[in-house]
Amino acid sequence: MAARSRTSRERSEPAPGPGGPQAPLHVAIVMDGNGRWAQKRGLPRTLGHRAGVEALKRTVAAAPGLGVRWLTVFGFSTENWSRPAAEVSELMALPKRYFDADLKRLEREGVRVRALGRRQGLAPDVVALLDEAERRTAGNDRFFLQVAFNYGGQADIADAARRLAEAAAEGRLDPASIDEKVFAGGLSTAGLPPADLIVRPSGEQRLSNFLLWEAAYAELVFQDVLWPDYDEASLAAAIAAFRARDRRFGGAVSDDVLVAG
Ligand code: FPP
Repeated sequence: MAARSRTSRERSEPAPGPGGPQAPLHVAIVMDGNGRWAQKRGLPRTLGHRAGVEALKRTVAAAPGLGVRWLTVFGFSTENWSRPAAEVSELMALPKRYFDADLKRLEREGVRVRALGRRQGLAPDVVALLDEAERRTAGNDRFFLQVAFNYGGQADIADAARRLAEAAAEGRLDPASIDEKVFAGGLSTAGLPPADLIVRPSGEQRLSNFLLWEAAYAELVFQDVLWPDYDEASLAAAIAAFRARDRRFGGAVSDDVLVAG
């Protein structure tokens, strides 16, 4: 019998190629559910956020072994400033909690850290901490960890548009040359590969202003686990869901044939 490739409906295991068995290179996570995790235990939300830092450590440790090379996590959104002052102040203390515990290890293990979002608006000590994490890991290239902190997808797009407009007004940029590639170069995510997989634990099913531009062809996976309970098995399950998807990037699958469209 002549060999033939499987149609997408016949696949129990995804075939190689687009949508094939490879792991997502760039995974982005909305670390959600800290408050509910704490509430369920009768604890203050603060302790949920602290447990969230432990989940971040576990996830960063597990990601390279699962084939991930870029991991981007949502640590604080431009909208999170509207939370009660005491909670904002706890959230602002999380980078210190994380990097005090783990920066040496990240440095040693070849992880390059990059902070995404607006430095403006953050306290000088938080900016100094993010700068230090970037500086100390700048020579690393085994794994890339992006921490989105004071980040909003819309704010990032608006900031990029303003920078391009300023460059055009000063004659440094020809407006006619602005295309998707040039525009992406103005975002705080410039140089990163597009997100392959965006994961949101906690049962919520929305992006909440995370990576709006970069999510164009990302697969979205929503999981019921609350972020502080997230672990290697949770990430492996999200990746398995990704691997079962057919990624077509705007092309069309006509029976067995991938047609660019
Ligand atoms: C959302 O949960 C979570 C956050 C706003 C903070 C997440 C940040 C971390 C886990 C660590 C950050 C670490 C670094 C290095 C920046 P929520 O409070 O909205 O939970 P809820 O929806 O259950 O109330």
